[in-house]
Formats: sequence, C-alpha cells, structure tokens
Amino acid sequence: MLKKISINQLKPGMFVHKIVEQKGQLSVKNQGRVTSDAIVDTLKKRGVVSLVIDTSKAFKVASEQDESEQENKKEAVEDTPRKSASLESELVRATKLHKQGKAIQKLLLNSVKKEQPFDSSIPKAFSQSLVSSIDRNPDALLCLTKIREKDDYLLEHSLNVAILLANFARYLGMSEDDVQDLSYAGFLHDLGKIKIPDEILHKPGRLTDPEMEIMKGHVVHGVDFLKQTELDVGLIQAISEHHERLDGLGYPAGTKGENISQAGRMLAIADMYDALTADRVYKAGMSSQKAFSILMSDAPERLDLALVQQFIKCMGVYPVGSLVLLSNERLAMVVEQTNAPLAPIVKVFYSVRNSHFLEPKDVNLTTEKNVKVSKAVIAADYNIDVNAFFERSVSIG
Ligand SMILES: [Fe+2]
Repeated sequence: MLKKISINQLKPGMFVHKIVEQKGQLSVKNQGRVTSDAIVDTLKKRGVVSLVIDTSKAFKVASEQDESEQENKKEAVEDTPRKSASLESELVRATKLHKQGKAIQKLLLNSVKKEQPFDSSIPKAFSQSLVSSIDRNPDALLCLTKIREKDDYLLEHSLNVAILLANFARYLGMSEDDVQDLSYAGFLHDLGKIKIPDEILHKPGRLTDPEMEIMKGHVVHGVDFLKQTELDVGLIQAISEHHERLDGLGYPAGTKGENISQAGRMLAIADMYDALTADRVYKAGMSSQKAFSILMSDAPERLDLALVQQFIKCMGVYPVGSLVLLSNERLAMVVEQTNAPLAPIVKVFYSVRNSHFLEPKDVNLTTEKNVKVSKAVIAADYNIDVNAFFERSVSIG
C-alpha cells in the first residue's frame, strides 16, 4: 500500500516508493529501503520534504546490536549478571564481530593512507557492539585475541587492544561511557602506522636509530588525522599518550608522570601486552607470564604500577585464550577463569605424549583434583596451529 508521509515520519525499515517534494538540486535515488538512521539524515540533508512509502515492502530493521541487546535482556534474567551468555553462544557473535572489526580497521587504515575522511559512526558503533559482547561474556572475544593471521598484525593489534581495554575498564568498574571511550581509543590508537614505510613497519628484528625515529612518527600521523575528525579531544589525548612513559622518556612529547592521563596509561599497558604476546611473521609471541613480568619490570618508573597490577589480576594468572600444559601431559586452552587463580576451566585438545589432537573436552580444574596446570606454554613450542584448532572446535561462526 502506498502512503504519503513527511520526512520526519520516515524511519529505518520503510520502503521509499518515490520522493514527492524536495528542496535543492541534489539528486536522490527515488526507490529503495531505508536501512539506517544515517540514510534518513542524508535524505533530510538533501532537502527531501515529503515522500511516498510502500508499506507492503516495509521490513523490520533488526540490527545486530538490537538483536543481541534483546537476547541479552532475556538471558540476563535467566543467568548471572556478569555472564549473561554462554561461551558457546557468545563465540558465534564474537567471531562475526572479530571479522567485522578487522574489515573496519582495514577501511580506516585505507582512509588514513589516502588522507580521506571516514564516517566515524562506523567504528564507534563497532566499539559499542564490542563492549556489548564483553558485557555478555568477555571470554569469547578474549579467546579470539589469540587468533592471529600472520600478515594481519596491524589489523588485529588494534582490535585486540580495544578488546583488552574494554575488559580492563569493565574490571576496574569504570562508567559505561568510559568503557566505551577506552575501547574506541584502543581501536583507533595505531592508525598512524599506515604512514610508516613497510620495510620499517614489518622489519624483523631491531630498528636502527634513524628507522626508530621514523617509526615514532606513527603517533603524530595518527593524531593529526584524528584531529580532522569530530573525535572527542579526551580520546585524542589518550591516543597521543600511548607511547608516553611516566619517567618522561616516552614519545612523542616526553610527557611525564601525572601529566599522562589514566586512559593513556591504560592504553600503554594494553598496547604493550598485546605487542609482546602477538605472533609475528618473524617470531612467536611470548607467553602471558613473560609479558606480565616485562610489564612489572617497567613499573613504577615507566608504567603505572597500580594499573599494571590490576591489569594482571584482570587477565588472570592463566589468561583466557592462553595455552597450558597439564600434569597429564595434555595441552589445553584456558576458556574461563574461576575463583581459584591457578585452576581455570580449560579445553583439553592435544596429547603431548602421542603428538596428536584429541576430541576437545572442557575440564574444570577446580573439581578435577588429579589434574593441575604444570606451566603456561605457547603454541610454537609444540608446532601447533591454534587457528586451525579454533576453526575445528572452538569457534562456530
Ligand atoms: Fe603505537
């Protein structure tokens, strides 16, 4: 059925049959579905006053966020408030989100490379979906931070820092807005790296002093670009501080101590942790334990000691997604923390004695008294492809 309405009545989900009245000369496509509020805004900006909609072609707009929010509410009633979704169900959504995050990061980097503005509503909405997933069950995205494609470091690093920061800020009990902001800052913090020549950015091993100077420029490149967007100044400040250190020996400004914001200090910790634990083309990432000890050795002179301690507590002795060797010579992935820091819930998947994969099985080490964690390990020690394992048995999407 055709119905004439004013532009103020137009809502996402409606099907526009034709434009009836329009001020100005900008052409507007006559027919089509309105899929978002942004399209309504565009039509308003282009001077559309009234239009005819076809109510028989209307459809319900159910964005991913709406759906998950509704499910979240449903599940929240049924389950504990901290984890309103099971790991399995959240992994389905988180896997999609993880892929989407990499694709958006790629778009943003391209915009920075070409010095073209980008629509900030896209990464902002993405960060919000990411925080919603952390709220429902942080273990899903935390597991996925261990998925590494060897050539995608640049895309995955910022995504992981956004995940780590959302989880960290939530753990510290920060306000909803602060959690969102920190995660968003994490997602945008390294955009300037696209301006660094590939041979320096991807150089295996140590950079020479002149190369390091060029590399340091990524902070200013990123900040200069973000200043042209409508990004909040507080977020830009945090991003500008992610390589500053309390002793004033960081870069680019050499900002000292109290002058570095709390958000900037948190960003520095999450950035360093992900960089240390990431597998790169030329080297395997280190274990979380080793990364924690490096963070601790940088505090309190360079990093904020209280925040480093809280970060380690928040990640847990054996962080979700990390691999452990069990006392029965089996390898397992940590999938959930428990009240006992040394006895998480793990997914057992590999026999070291027989060098073969096992049918994955969840084991709660607080109740399985005969099995303990012997030590934290990394996949490279056993020549195991964690990504393939994920695809087969953990991730569903
Ligand atoms: Fe950086």
